[in-house]
Amino acid sequence: MKTVRMPLPGVSLGCDYNPEQWSPDVWREDAALMRQAGVGLVAVNIFGWSNLEPSPGEYRFDDLDEVIELMHANGIKINLGTGTSSPPPWLTTQHPEVLPVAADGTVRFPGGRQAWCPSSPVFRKRALDLVERVARRYGEHPAIALWHVSNELGCHNALCYCETSAEGFRTWLRGRYGKIETLNEAWGTSFWSQRYGAWAEIQPPRLALSLRNPAQLVDFQRFSSENLLDYYRAETAILRAHSTVPVTTNFMVTAHIRNLDYWSWAPEMDVVANDHYLDHRLGEPVPELSFAADLTRGLAGGRPWMLMEQAAGAVNWQPHNLTKAPGEMIRNSLTHVARGADSICFFQWRASAQGAEKFHSAMLPHAGTDTVAWREVLKLSETLGRIGEVAGSEVESDVALLFSWESWWSAEGEARPSQAVTYLDQVHASHRALRANGVTVDVIAPGTDLTKYKLVVVPGLYMISDADAQAITDYVAAGGKLLVTFFSGIVDERDRIRLGGYPGAFRDVLGVVAEEFGPLLPGAEVDLSDGTTGTLWTERLRTTTATALATYENGPMTGLPAITRNAYGKGTAWYVATKTDMSDLLKEAAGATGEKNDQLEVVRRKNGDRGYLFVINHSPDPVELPAAGHDLVTDQPVTGVLRVEGGGVAVVREEAS
Ligand code: GLA
Repeated sequence: MKTVRMPLPGVSLGCDYNPEQWSPDVWREDAALMRQAGVGLVAVNIFGWSNLEPSPGEYRFDDLDEVIELMHANGIKINLGTGTSSPPPWLTTQHPEVLPVAADGTVRFPGGRQAWCPSSPVFRKRALDLVERVARRYGEHPAIALWHVSNELGCHNALCYCETSAEGFRTWLRGRYGKIETLNEAWGTSFWSQRYGAWAEIQPPRLALSLRNPAQLVDFQRFSSENLLDYYRAETAILRAHSTVPVTTNFMVTAHIRNLDYWSWAPEMDVVANDHYLDHRLGEPVPELSFAADLTRGLAGGRPWMLMEQAAGAVNWQPHNLTKAPGEMIRNSLTHVARGADSICFFQWRASAQGAEKFHSAMLPHAGTDTVAWREVLKLSETLGRIGEVAGSEVESDVALLFSWESWWSAEGEARPSQAVTYLDQVHASHRALRANGVTVDVIAPGTDLTKYKLVVVPGLYMISDADAQAITDYVAAGGKLLVTFFSGIVDERDRIRLGGYPGAFRDVLGVVAEEFGPLLPGAEVDLSDGTTGTLWTERLRTTTATALATYENGPMTGLPAITRNAYGKGTAWYVATKTDMSDLLKEAAGATGEKNDQLEVVRRKNGDRGYLFVINHSPDPVELPAAGHDLVTDQPVTGVLRVEGGGVAVVREEAS
């Protein structure tokens, strides 16, 4: 089992703190208010470089010393940033070659943040010099509870197309393929006269006049993810040389950032940490929060993790930045805890008065403490204090959903059957339907041992290796249940089509074969024989050994199967070949009972025999559920029926069974 090194005991409360933006008298006020709010952990020095090293080699630590001592004196632990996330202006002025280059070959200038090329040796040397100084100075300071490497690595700069990156890409390709001929075969370079004779001829996939080579694109994503991970390792090695404190960086498991393959990153974290913001560009932001939390738990190997950033209210980077209604932030926070978080932190402590984030919410808003936002923070703090004993427990789940960044990168290539089909839409739809049926889902990587699961869901998993596909087939043969949705199993890791009909890797286990895709235009609907409708996608599908559960009543595939079920070995496998409401099907497959309710989350964490039942009621109406034990939130006994008020939360320590 993966060991996890949480910075604090219990379910802690924390935040980013940017004292560089304020004067020392404000720091003292902050420390007092942090104590009042029960803040236990502050992330400092996240964007500290230009203050710590105002000119090359001139280091000034006085302010950071003072802030750390102030926090220490107030019993607040430090999540210490290495400070390298954004280079200071002197560095990009003296060495413009550290600046990242976009796919169109144009430079991305400083003036924002993260303006550095992940392959730049100059950046790396300067950044590591700073890390060395910071680690040496504070590595054994008793207030330091966690190291925070850089910040959201790859948020803006993951893909750099400069000459230095091109050289790094070539070196990486040599390591992967060994011989140029192997690369030619993997990339299918006979197509469009792309055959390479020498490594030096290979470029990163810069913008071209026409469609680019999709295998080259996916390899560039792989290279870029590994390249930044290598950078993370370089910073971490320095920290470990000077300190025994756990090390992490903040992931971005969100709906709009996808550049790093966190399955390969996560094992290198002492504790997995995620940043999550409700995304109102999605139709349904709250279920996406639950999905992201489940995926973060998957990255943590099922062990507890940290929510490193969330917003107390609105963010500032969406087109319409909605605030949170009273109670909403607490429900969101408890949703993360229910799904495995043992630490809830915010970006940021005090709302900035200047800079690009001056309209981003904070725990302490511009209007001060006589505010709803501040009172909500105090309430959350009290709640987290009351439920502290859940820390260390693990989420109970017997349904898995397979998720893959590699597949995401490749599925959304430049030329595909339908631009309207996106990977996350498919993933979210499956997760949402399970969640609405009260099913807690483990989101795991292809290749993970499946034996403990009674149902495995595979939404839109376009790319899969032979070995991972075989493991799924074996799982079903041994008695498992599998549900696959369309555009799955189409290619191998080289993005090469699995020939013989779709859904390639899953044809046998599903007992179907499709000879052609039949995407639908946006807005078009087809009727299914079970009374539901399909949108977006159909297939010219026939069953081999499966049974059709629903067929198309009209549209291009009239009479052909849309939903099938196959008995395979001792197990059962369903295929859903169109976009349709899967609630009933997933309910049946998961063996769920009870009323569908997408406004209610019911999740259980367990610590040995001890169960903690989390109930989060997103609706305005009260709900009643069977439960017995003690509600830690209200400190009241629960004797058979648990009533949770509209918008309320409960965490019931269940009577040991
Ligand atoms: C990210 C960053 C923070 C801040 C927030 C705003 O998560 O890590 O520095 O910019 O976004 O939402």
